[in-house]
This record gives sequence, structure tokens and C-alpha cells, in this order.
Amino acid sequence: MTSKKRTLTGYRPTGKLHIGHWFGNLQNMLQMQHDYDAYYFIADYHALTTHWQDPSHVRESTEEMVLDWLAAGLDPDICTIYRQSDVPEVIELMSFFSMVTPKPWLERVPSYKEQQQQVSDKDLGNMGFFLYPLLMAADITVVRADAVPVGEDQAPHLELTREIVRRFNNTYGEYLVEPDAVIPKEGARVPGTDGRKMSKSYGNAIYISDSPDEMRAKVMSFMTDPARKLKTDPGDPDICPLHQVHKLIAPAGEIAEWDGCCRTAECGCVAHKRKLADDLVAYFADFQTRRAELAAIPNHAWEVLEGGAKKARPVTSEVVATCRELVGVDARTERTAHVKPRDPNAVNTTPSFAGSDDDSGAEF
Ligand code: TRP
Repeated sequence: MTSKKRTLTGYRPTGKLHIGHWFGNLQNMLQMQHDYDAYYFIADYHALTTHWQDPSHVRESTEEMVLDWLAAGLDPDICTIYRQSDVPEVIELMSFFSMVTPKPWLERVPSYKEQQQQVSDKDLGNMGFFLYPLLMAADITVVRADAVPVGEDQAPHLELTREIVRRFNNTYGEYLVEPDAVIPKEGARVPGTDGRKMSKSYGNAIYISDSPDEMRAKVMSFMTDPARKLKTDPGDPDICPLHQVHKLIAPAGEIAEWDGCCRTAECGCVAHKRKLADDLVAYFADFQTRRAELAAIPNHAWEVLEGGAKKARPVTSEVVATCRELVGVDARTERTAHVKPRDPNAVNTTPSFAGSDDDSGAEF
């Protein structure tokens, strides 16, 4: 088979991807499918932890996201694309993890209290949301991933995963893979039409599957240098969101020209918007053709997910079957013969962010 390291990453099914995703994590995923044995999954159970009151969009969003992935170039013959709920072994592993994880480890996960405080339109007092870091730990461990790309926001979750794996292994035998964090290549920070970070929830996003007319209309409403009130005012491209987006797709020489004529007020923002609109539509034309072709194949996304689950489940079944034996709820022994017996003197660790020895965790 393959000697490449295995990587895994999951995304909540948030629906269609926007150009912030395209220039952010999607380019990384495209590259990593070649460099790694890559597992990419739609985290639909994760969506339920926060959207349990209204999960009606989860299915549709799953399909949209998979079509975007495939049209962008993720190749199900190269990587493994699956849906979390098609791999139910993850839930059994999460349940084993819930046995070995002290409650304070979860209470101290930075995003837990933060999100509960910040999100007011959803009830996040449920156990599912509380246990979400255990689910994430199980996602990673159940496929024996050894390299997980994590941005700043997910880093504590990966650290917790490592602690849980160590505790499981200390308790039952050295078996589960302790995953390393891979710091993803810094993706571009793409501003939205209002100048803030592009995000679905801000309503400032241009979707990669938007029709040319929608794309044009959104670009024409794009924010430019707010200090440049009149066409005769010189502008500052460095703080102009329109420039930042144009830079992502146009050749450097062309960008230098727009940069220069903006500073000298020789060209106006409306002309620049028209140009960006044309360039953006042209840039995504091939992608959109491929996406339309894939969307026209009945059930295509679902079949890809089914195929991915077929590839993933032999791995996840083996992992969970071995864990059952290690824990002692399954009597077969041949599978665990190679596992190192546990070290009775091993000291269980506490995650560094949990503030055991010092106050480092106090801010959480
Ligand atoms: N927690 C991630 C998010 O909210 C999604 C996710 C779930 C994930 N399981 C994962 C990411 C495992 C990496 C690895 O975006």
C-alpha cells in the first residue's frame, strides 16, 4: 500500500464554499492529497452538536460541500472522502474516550466557555457540545492519522487529543497513534465585500459557485479604501479590500499597474471593480463547468461518500475492534498480541492547558 503519512481533516457541513475557503484551506487540501494518505471528511455529527435544534440543512450542505471539493480537484481515487456518520465506529471510540477523560479536561477547553458565551441564538448547554472535543479526538484516532493540520483555533483540541490518547494507551496498552499537529501553510486571509474577514455569517461572502451575474453584483458592491471619496482622491491599495482579492488571482505586473494608478488617482474604483469582476468570473469558469457536470450526475456526491466510507471502514473497524479487546469487552486476543502491555508505573498526564501545576489554564 502506501508509505505516506496519514493526514485527516474534517469540516462541518456549512454548505457552499466561498473564495475565502478556496484560497485558505482548500488549496492546502489539494496539495496534501498528494503528499499524504489523506482522509477528508464531512463532520455532520459535529454540526449536530451546535445545530441539534434545527439540523434540516445538514444533508443538503453536505452534498454542496462535496461537489465543491470534487470540482476543485479533490480526487476520490487519490484521497478518502467520507461522511462522519457513515463511519459509526467513531462513536464507539468516543465512548471509550469518555471513560478515560476527566471532566475538567473538557471544561477547560478554551472554545467551550467562549462559544457558550458568544453564541446567543443556539442552546449550547447540551452534552453533545460538551463532548465535542472527544468526538474530534475519535475522528482523528479512529483512522490512525499521524499528522493533522490545525489552525490556531483547533490547536487546543489536538493537544487534548494527544493527552487522551496517552491516557488511553497508559491504561490499556500502547496502541493508538498520537497525532502530530501540522501547521498548515498560511492561507490567504480573504476579505469579504464589507472589508471584514469573508464569512458566511457576516453575509459578505462570494461563493465559488455563484453565477457570473451574482459574482459581478457582489464585486460591484465591494468595499474599497474608505478614505478615497472621489475619483480624484489618491487611494491606498494596501488597505483596499478590493486590491487584496485581486492580488489573489491577477498577475503581479497587472496588480502593480492598478496599485500605481490608484495611488495617483489615475484610475477609479469602479473601473477596478469591473476588472476584478471579469477576472473572478474567468478564474472560476473551469471550476464552475466541472461543478455543473458533477451536479448533473444523479447522486454523485453520495456515491463518492459511500465509496470513501468503504475505504475508511476497514481501518476504523480494526481500530475499534482492537480497542474493545484492550478495554476487555471482547475476548479475542490475537489482534492485541502485538500491543505492548501497559506500564503499571506510568503516570497519567494532564493537558498542558488544564493548569495542573501552575495557573496557565486560569484564563480559560
Ligand atoms: N473541529 C473542526 C471544526 O470545527 C472540525 C473537525 C472535526 C476536525 N473533527 C476534526 C478537524 C478532526 C480536524 C480533525 O472546524
